[in-house]
Amino acid sequence: MKVAVLHGPNLNLLGTREPGHYGSATLRDIEDRLREAGDRAGIEIDCVQHNGEGELIDEIHRAGEQADGIIINPGAYTHYSIAIRDALAAVQIPAVEVHLSHIHRREPFRRDSVVAPVCVGGIWGFGARSYELALTALIQYLRDSAS
Ligand code: DQA
Repeated sequence: MKVAVLHGPNLNLLGTREPGHYGSATLRDIEDRLREAGDRAGIEIDCVQHNGEGELIDEIHRAGEQADGIIINPGAYTHYSIAIRDALAAVQIPAVEVHLSHIHRREPFRRDSVVAPVCVGGIWGFGARSYELALTALIQYLRDSAS
C-alpha cells in the first residue's frame, strides 16, 4: 500500500514560519515521523512539497495513478483553489485533508475549505501530529474499504 503526502505553499518554511500557529517541527521532522509510522504499518510513504498550484495538481494526478490514498495540506489553496478540489475529485483514490492549525478558530477566511467536500475526512488543529492522525485514519479507511 502506498500513500502520497502532498504539502502546499509555504509549508517548506515550517520550523520558523509563524511558530505560534504552526509549531516548531520542520517539514523534515513531519516527514520522518510519517515514514516511521508508515514503516510500522507496512505502508510506503511518498512526500512532496510544492508552492505552486499546478505542481500540486500534477502530483495529485500522479498519486491517482501510483498511490492508494492521499494526505494533503493544500495550505492557503485550501480556501480558494477550485482547481485542486477538481483534481482531488477527478482521481479515484481517497484523500484526507490536513492542517496543523485549527482553521476554524482563526480568521474567517480560513473557515472555508473548498477541498473538504471531495475528501473522505479531515484533521486539523493538532500541529505536526495532525499528519500522523491523518495517516492512521487513512490506513483504516483503506483497510475498511478493502474488506
Ligand atoms: C494551514 C492553514 C492555512 O490556512 C494556511 O494558509 C497554511 C497552513 C495549516 O496547516 O494550518 O498555509 O494549511
